This record gives sequence, structure tokens and C-alpha cells, in this order.
Amino acid sequence: MKGVVLHGGSGTRLRPFTFIGPKQLMPIANKPVSEYVVRDLVACDIKEIAIILGGTHPERVKNHYRDGSSYGVKITYIDQGEPLGIAHAVGLSRDFVDGDKFVVYLGDNMIQNGIKPYLERFIANDYDAMVLLKEVADPKQFGVAELDDKGKLIRLVEKPEDPPSNYALTGIYFFTPVIFKAIGQLRPSWRGELEITDAIQKLIDWGFNVGYEFVKGWWVDTGKKDDILQVNALVLDERGRREIRGETLNSLVEGRVEIAEDTKIINSTIRGPAIIGSGCVIENSYIGPYTSIWDNTTVINSSVEYCVIMKNVVIRNVERLEESLIGNYTRVETRYSNRRALKLQVGDYSEVLL
Ligand code: DAU
Repeated sequence: MKGVVLHGGSGTRLRPFTFIGPKQLMPIANKPVSEYVVRDLVACDIKEIAIILGGTHPERVKNHYRDGSSYGVKITYIDQGEPLGIAHAVGLSRDFVDGDKFVVYLGDNMIQNGIKPYLERFIANDYDAMVLLKEVADPKQFGVAELDDKGKLIRLVEKPEDPPSNYALTGIYFFTPVIFKAIGQLRPSWRGELEITDAIQKLIDWGFNVGYEFVKGWWVDTGKKDDILQVNALVLDERGRREIRGETLNSLVEGRVEIAEDTKIINSTIRGPAIIGSGCVIENSYIGPYTSIWDNTTVINSSVEYCVIMKNVVIRNVERLEESLIGNYTRVETRYSNRRALKLQVGDYSEVLL
């Protein structure tokens, strides 16, 4: 069994963050999304993973995972170049897969409790392919599955106008090498991509044994800001850890809070679940539940809650910062003066809600 992680795509819905790196490196509880994916595959005893690279600055992915040895796995990198579709990316892994069964995991997808039980079902049922489904309120933004009245999977459609069900296809697929034959016969879809949904449909049409399982627990496709905040909250909630390695002075640290080494908390209140990375200073501030603050960030005279704050950020004199995603090397500051002016230096595709 091998693993294939998709780490390309254009990431347009997460601009401006994706100008400086792939969306799969966005942090959830101070760890890139795709690291949860890699660790999930490793937890299934998978020893070889291919990461398909694309998008902006793919070298950041290599710098993060290197040869995989620190994760207990051998990582091979495959360049996709242009994002010509998920099926195109999967097709590039043919030599790597080399006749084995394999799991394709979109690098921006996360599911609760990992994929191991589903992988076991795939093997036990000897399926030619298997998909994971999740009931959602708005299936139009996903691939959607149609089941017949006996519960057999009969059709898969990508982002349909008129969805045949509320069962979304998650971005986790279990394959045998027969999928490469179907990919080889695909034509680009209306959005100009080779769709994995169409490839699996071909297997169904050719009479192959295509199974499905419903995901128990949550599943999030972290494609947009609100998804990242939501999954950050879910992960912090479930970590259930309290570990204070930094220094706290005249401060209150309540509940499940993780504070890394070389971080100072001074005259502040931290209320979990929350995580604060290393080399941070939190002074005269309140850090509320569901907040992740990555390394080397400073928060002074401010209140921050339900936020994901990345590295080397400065937040100063901000009365209440909520539901925000703040990129590396950003400064958010109120400067008191009698002119109530806003002074902004904001990159392309940013969002400022006042
Ligand atoms: O998240 C689940 C959904 O993922 C499924 O319901 C859909 O059937 C499936 O098509 C896919 O839809 P998205 O529109 O969310 O796909 P997106 O273009 O965002 O790409 C998904 C991941 O695959 C993302 O991590 C980027 C990566 N990717 C995508 C393309 C098109 C690549 O590595 N290469 C590509 O060419």
C-alpha cells in the first residue's frame, strides 16, 4: 500500500496566503494541514508516499518534509507543473505506485480520527476503488454521489447544478492501478481539468467493483478562511492537552493550553483550548479559546479570540481581534491619535473588515 498526497493546485480562494506558498501548508494548531495528512498515512503503516507538487513555491513543501525520515516514511516528490486536474496529478504517480494499491489524499483535507478503519474496509472488501462520502448541506461545491434504492453507488458528478443527493465526495480515495486506465481515457471537463470523479465514473461504467464508506465524525476541506478557523477549533478542542513549557509571569492560564519553549506570558490571561508557539511574547493581553499563535509572534495590550495567527506577527493595542487569519510578518496595530485615520499596507486579494 502506498500513499499519494496532492500538494498542488492554484489556491485562489486562499489568496493572499497562497502567493507565498501552497495552501496545504496553512497551519492548523501550528502544524501544516498536509502534515496531518502525511501523519495519517504513516499511522496506516504506509511506508512510501509521493507528494505531487505544484502551485506557488513548491520548494517550501520539500523544505518541510525533506526525505520523510523524520515522519517515519520515504517521500518521493513529483512535479505536476500546471494544475491540470486531480486525475492528471494522480496519473503522474503511476511509476511510483508500480502496481500496488494506493490511497490518494488531497493535501487540504482533514478527517476526524484518520483513515485507518476505511483503509481496512477497502482491503477486506477487495474493491477496485473506494470513495469516502459525507452528507453536507450544500453539495454543489463538491463531487456528489448518487446511490440507487439498494444503496449501490451508480453515479458521481463533479459540482453539479442539480445535485442527485447530499453525499459529497471527500478528497480521500482508495485505488488499485486500474484507475490509471480510466485516467488515460479522460477528456478535460467544463472547468478544463481532468476530473478524478470522471475517472471513477468510468470504473463504475466498466463494471468494476467501486465501494464507498460514509465518514464518521467531521471532515473539512480547508479551502477557505472560515474552514481553516473551523478545523483549527475542532483540532484544538480534541487535543485535550495542557503543556506549559514557556514562562508565565503574573498571568492566568486556564484549561487546555499549550505554550512552547522560549515564550513569555506577562500580565495576561490565556483561556484554552489554545496553542502558542515558541519565541512569542504575550503581554497585558487576553488570548481566548480556539486561538493558535505560531512562533515568534508578539501580542501586546490586545485581545485575541478564535484566530489563527502565523509566524513573526505583531498585534498591539487591538481591543478585540476575532475570527481572523493573519499571515506571517504582519503587523496589526492601533496607534492612538486625534485623527481617526486607517493606515493600511495590504497585499493583493486581502480582506479588511472593520
Ligand atoms: O475536497 C473534496 C473535493 O475535492 C471533492 O468533493 C471534489 O470532487 C474534488 O474535485 C475536489 O474539489 P475541489 O474543487 O475542492 O478541488 P481543488 O481544485 O480545490 O483541489 C483539491 C486538492 O488537490 C487541493 O489540495 C489542490 C490539489 N490539486 C488540485 C488540482 C486541480 C493538485 O494538486 N493539482 C491539481 O491539478
